[in-house]
Order: sequence, then C-alpha cells, then structure tokens
Amino acid sequence: MSRVVVTRAVPESAVELLREVAEVEVCDQDRPLAPEELREAVNGADGVVAMLHDRIDAELVEAAGEQLRVVANVAVGYDNIDVPAVSERGVTVTNTPGVLTDATADLAFGLLLSVTRRLGEGERLLRSRTPWTFRLDFMLGTGLQGKTLGVVGLGGIGQAVARRARAFGMHIAYTGRRRAAQEVEAELDARYLPMEELLRTADVISLHCPLTEQTHHLVDDGALAAMKPTAIVVNTSRGPVVDEKALARALREGRIGGAALDVFENEPEVDPGLLELDNVAMAPHLGSATTETRTAMAELAARNVAAVLTGEPPLTPVTA
Ligand code: DGY
Repeated sequence: MSRVVVTRAVPESAVELLREVAEVEVCDQDRPLAPEELREAVNGADGVVAMLHDRIDAELVEAAGEQLRVVANVAVGYDNIDVPAVSERGVTVTNTPGVLTDATADLAFGLLLSVTRRLGEGERLLRSRTPWTFRLDFMLGTGLQGKTLGVVGLGGIGQAVARRARAFGMHIAYTGRRRAAQEVEAELDARYLPMEELLRTADVISLHCPLTEQTHHLVDDGALAAMKPTAIVVNTSRGPVVDEKALARALREGRIGGAALDVFENEPEVDPGLLELDNVAMAPHLGSATTETRTAMAELAARNVAAVLTGEPPLTPVTA
C-alpha cells in the first residue's frame, strides 16, 4: 500500500480521503517541522501533503526517495516549492485554487475597513479603558465610496476583492502581467493601467500576485513614493511582495495613509515598527481561515494525492 505523509494536522475528513488509498501518517507537532525533521518525516513516502511553511525542493525529493509521486500543497500559493526541480524528478505538484477565493477576499476587505474606519484603534481605545464621549470629530476615518481600488493581479482573488469593492461604490483599476478577459473587465468596469499609473492614482492598492523573483519587494521605497499620501496598501498575498521595513517607514512618516496586512515578510515575525502604528490593521495570515475553507483546502489536497496515487490526473496541478 502507498504511504502518505501529512506534515501538519489537517481536518479528519481529509485524512479519511487519504486513508482510502494509502497508509497515512500525520505529523502532529504543533509547529512547522525543521528542515531536517521534514526530510526525515517524508522518507519513504509516495505522497506528501505539505503546508506553506514547508520548503519542498530537490533535496527534499531526494530525501523522500524515488517512490515519491506527488506533493500536494494545502495553499493556493506555492512559492515554498521549487516546482521546476520537483517536477523534473517526476513528482506532481498540486495546490488548492478556487476554494479559498471568497474567504481571502472577505478578509482583505475586512482588514481594509478596519484601517479606513479605525476599528482596531477604536477597540484598543475601549480595551485600555481610555475615557471617551461621542463627538462629531471623534476618530474620523475615510469612506470608500467613489474611491479607486487598484488591484495588482486580477486573478480569482483579485476579482473577488474587486466585486466586494464595487458593492461599496468603488471604481476598479488593475495591473498585472496580462489583461483580464473582456467579460471580467466589463463585469467589474475595470480599467487596465500600467503599474506606475496604478500606484500614482489608486486610493487603495490591493496585492493579489504570487510571490516570484519578479514580485519580490514589488512594493518598495520607489513604489511607496509613487503612491498618494493617503493611499492604503492591502496585502493578503505573500509578505515578501512588500518591503516591510520600507512600508513601516512610509507609514510612520505619513508618506502613505495606511496598510492592511495579513501576511509578513518573515512570518511569524512582524516588523516591530509596524506594531507601534495605529494606521495598520493586521491579522496573522488568516486569509483562508474559516472552518469551511480550511476543510475544503485540505480535502482538495487529499483528492489530488489520491488521484495521482491511483493513476488519475490531479485535479489542480501546478506546472513548472
Ligand atoms: C494560500 O492558500 O496561499 C494562503 O496564503 C493560505 O490559505
């Protein structure tokens, strides 16, 4: 019988799906495995269900052994996987697109509202028992109606965020490696802009691109300098897409208006400069963190593994 290693706890329904085709070993430590522990854990596995904090590369595939056939990432992002190196060794890589789109878009919008309406700041004020009374100019935020959302990467999640923004009366602009389909542009009334122009004109800039060599520090000092002094940066993609230190400086010096961050450059660390600022709303990488979504992600990963191990095509393969 095949053997599948799951690198961290997943919902039981996903384990059951895997048990239909393999012996399953779930690593039950409450932390990411260290690289040497991961190499040891996957030794002899035919399939690996991996988390976004597991580095999967040529060395890991060698450590697993020649029988390894599939690595299923329980995430839509797969920057933790050296896809060319793994695929070259005959191992299928899969991810979990689609099932987390709405949850991630909800979180992006929630964080955005938290910054623009100063919700975190207001809650901190109450919890610190600071005296307050209703006053017309007390803790004023900014409205989103009539403002422009600039989406960097109008894929599934970018579109879902844009749809929410439309419901809030926002205009949509976007940039990316390629133009979206005409129907998508028409549905969202979305204008394609070069990156430079998007940075210069958008009121909110929401990042939905994958982390690659090209997008590493896409939002750096230069990009921040191009933005409006009131601009808000939303990042629910991957931390290193933003130069976190540069962002903290720009926020502290009032060169941009705010930030809504679900992801960080060196997770689980957060730049201490950000923690001191009131114009930042933060969450600990919770984009897909609903019970329904995390279950769907784990089940999709399990189905991908089961497909490959039973000689079927994977449902959501990643290609090099
Ligand atoms: C992903 O899927 O890539 C998210 O970051 C975690 O859900």
